[in-house]
Amino acid sequence: MGAIARAQPNIALIKYWGKRDAERNLPAVGSISITLDDLFTETSVDLDDVTDSDRLSVNGEDRPDLLPRVSACLDTVLGADRPRARVSSRSNFPLAAGLASSASSFAALVVAAVAAGGLNRTTAELASLAGRASGSAARSLYGGFVELRNDADGIVVGSILDGDAWPLRVVAAITEPGVKPVGSGEAMEISRKTSPFYARWVEQQARDLDTARGAIADRDFRRLASIAEHNCLKMHSIMWASRPPMVYWNAATMRCLQTVRKLQGQGADVFFTIDAGPQVKAVCTAESLADVEAALQATPGVVDVMTTGLGEGARLEQDA
Ligand code: PMV
Repeated sequence: MGAIARAQPNIALIKYWGKRDAERNLPAVGSISITLDDLFTETSVDLDDVTDSDRLSVNGEDRPDLLPRVSACLDTVLGADRPRARVSSRSNFPLAAGLASSASSFAALVVAAVAAGGLNRTTAELASLAGRASGSAARSLYGGFVELRNDADGIVVGSILDGDAWPLRVVAAITEPGVKPVGSGEAMEISRKTSPFYARWVEQQARDLDTARGAIADRDFRRLASIAEHNCLKMHSIMWASRPPMVYWNAATMRCLQTVRKLQGQGADVFFTIDAGPQVKAVCTAESLADVEAALQATPGVVDVMTTGLGEGARLEQDA
């Protein structure tokens, strides 16, 4: 049995940082994201092989180093007594560099594994399974604007607005294509245990989520811009104040923020957000897109610029 699924990464506007239950990988806070369109991960899962161990290839290369997380995800989806799997994954953007590749990778893996195993799961169940592997992956099961909420038993994820209803654009400025030094799962545990700002972050998140949800419902760009930048800078402040400190930014990251401020001063509808990596994602309206692309491309230290709109949730491409 084999299946192929495709999923897009998502970018959080109100961020997830910190776990309330490390074993079940449950987030300490809710989050709101946008699912992207043109960046994607396509993953095939093949359960036909008569082998005694799982195999993983990523962009055509064998990656035994990444296998433990993939095998653990397959155990969660298919049960520990499952057949061994051959997993092959391909992404059209840099991996593990702060572009949410774990979100698209695990969302696609879960959808393909469920189909390969001949199982039926609702989208909500798929989201919970993906969230076990990577908190942000749960959001990539849905398209457009997505909210992840905590409830007593786990997480509840759903789309709060279609991408077509407010077709924002995202310009990702790549400042360093290499793999990040500390993975987000490990980094957020260090923050939870050591950052003096962590408790306040958890306490204030409900308010930030309310503001963002209201701004999205009203399509109020400036209100969304203000809360998203604030939430992003708060998350990075937690990291900077952690022990050891975690600073994912480089000089070009900072220059991109200055570029965004300058564009805002000129009246452009744009705001920035940054995840656990040095890349800057500028979210903007279609009207401001050309100016935002040109300004980020011209920012010293930016090695590449990728533009995308908002897209759909993860889906099955082929089921054999
Ligand atoms: O899902 P993870 O473990 O890769 O964590 C994602 C954390 C951030 O990208 C920094 C924020 C978010 O909500 O996506």
